[in-house]
Amino acid sequence: MPFEKRHAEIAKKTKPKTGKQLWFRTFVFSVFVFTFGSLYLFSRRGNFDLYIANKVFATTALVLIGLSMALSGLCFFWDFVDTKIIYRKHLGLVGLLYAILHVIVTTTLLPHKFAFPEWIYIHKPSFIFGTIALAIFLIMAIMSRRHIINQLGGKTWRALLSYGGYTAFILVMAHFALLKYNGWIGWFRTREPFLPPLSLLEIIFATAVIILRIALWKKTRKS
Ligand code: HEM
Repeated sequence: MPFEKRHAEIAKKTKPKTGKQLWFRTFVFSVFVFTFGSLYLFSRRGNFDLYIANKVFATTALVLIGLSMALSGLCFFWDFVDTKIIYRKHLGLVGLLYAILHVIVTTTLLPHKFAFPEWIYIHKPSFIFGTIALAIFLIMAIMSRRHIINQLGGKTWRALLSYGGYTAFILVMAHFALLKYNGWIGWFRTREPFLPPLSLLEIIFATAVIILRIALWKKTRKS
């Protein structure tokens, strides 16, 4: 069955919810993700401050945006996820708010950790990838306004959001992989501390989102 038709069927199955309920539940979910990330890093590092919280803001952004993008694939392959498709936009936009928070905290509140503009010169590619990704996600957020959807037409709008979203998501992966790669190698060498870096779990999660997209693309291309 073509993906468009299947998507319409899935949407019909979901119980109607008000916009307020969707935003509230997404926000509560984001607090769960943030709490899990914070407890994980506290267990790993033994302390918690704004520097660590900023890592968790970034993690929460990645998880929410990643889930928002993975929902089409998850619904396609696993029927029990079908009713969650209505959270796609909300997950993406709340995730974007965490990404903005991550950027504000990084650039203004942690000068002893990230001295700007020097940090940019040392981490140019990572900075460029993160900034372009943020710009794409912001454009996508503006594009989710009703009159723009009507102007572009549903099909073009969905295609633009999909290509834009995956491009930005891959840029985010490159953004933090460049910053964290040495830490991952170090952890594989020493296995200290016991828990792996959170960013290693993040890159595994992000890779799974991309693999799911490729699987969905292959499956829907055939049907
Ligand atoms: C859509 C935009 C962005 C997303 C989703 C994002 C996401 C991430 C993620 C997932 C990490 C790894 C966190 C961890 O340590 O576990 C990270 C690290 C980092 N990001 Fe971003 N990022 C974005 C944009 C930016 C931008 C524009 C900047 C710079 C102005 C930036 C600066 C940093 C820094 C400095 C780190 C290292 C944090 C640390 O080691 O404590 N990010 N980011």
